[in-house]
Amino acid sequence: MSHAEDHEGTRRDFLYYATAGAGAVTAGAAVWPLVNQMNPSADVQALSSIRVDVSDVEVGTQITVKWLGKPVFIRRRTQEEIEEARSVDLSELPDKDDRNANKPGLDASDENRSLDEAGEWLVMMGVCTHLGCVPLGDGSGDYHGWFCPCHGSHYDTSGRIRKGPAPENLHVPVAEFVEPTVIKLG
Ligand code: FES
Repeated sequence: MSHAEDHEGTRRDFLYYATAGAGAVTAGAAVWPLVNQMNPSADVQALSSIRVDVSDVEVGTQITVKWLGKPVFIRRRTQEEIEEARSVDLSELPDKDDRNANKPGLDASDENRSLDEAGEWLVMMGVCTHLGCVPLGDGSGDYHGWFCPCHGSHYDTSGRIRKGPAPENLHVPVAEFVEPTVIKLG
C-alpha cells in the first residue's frame, strides 16, 4: 500500500464516522418528541410534584411558586396572624369546608388548614375561587390576609373567604414538610 492510498483510506474512515454521527443525532432529535407525545404521563409526572426550599422565608412574608401552571402561596405567618386566624368563630365563615386536599371534608378551622401544628406555615393555591384571579397578599383586605381586586373578595389570615363574591376558601394543595425546611407540593 502506497502512502497516498493509506491517507485516502484514513480520510474515508473519518467521513464514514462523521456521517454516522450526524445520523445518530438526527435520529435522537426525531425520537424525543415522539416519545413525549406517546407517553404524556412522563411529562405530567415530572411536574406533578416539586420541592420548595423555604429556609429563606422570613416570618411575616410569603413566596409564590409556580406549580402545575398555577401560583401557590407559601406564607410564614406571624404569631398575630395565627392568633387572628384561630380566634375566628367558625359560624361566621361563608365557606365552612377546610378545602384542604391533605385532609378533605373537615371544618374550616385554621388548625385544619395550616401545614404545621403550630400554624406558622400556610400553603394555598394563589387562585381566587371566584373567577381565578391571583389575590394580593401580605395582609391585604379587610381581614388582613389576601384581597382579590378583580371583584373585591376578602380572605382572612387563614385564606378563608370572608367578604365578596368568592364562594370558597382558598384551596390548600397536597403538601408536606419532607425536610425541616423543604416543602413538597404534590
Ligand atoms: S376573581 Fe377574585 S373576586 Fe372575582
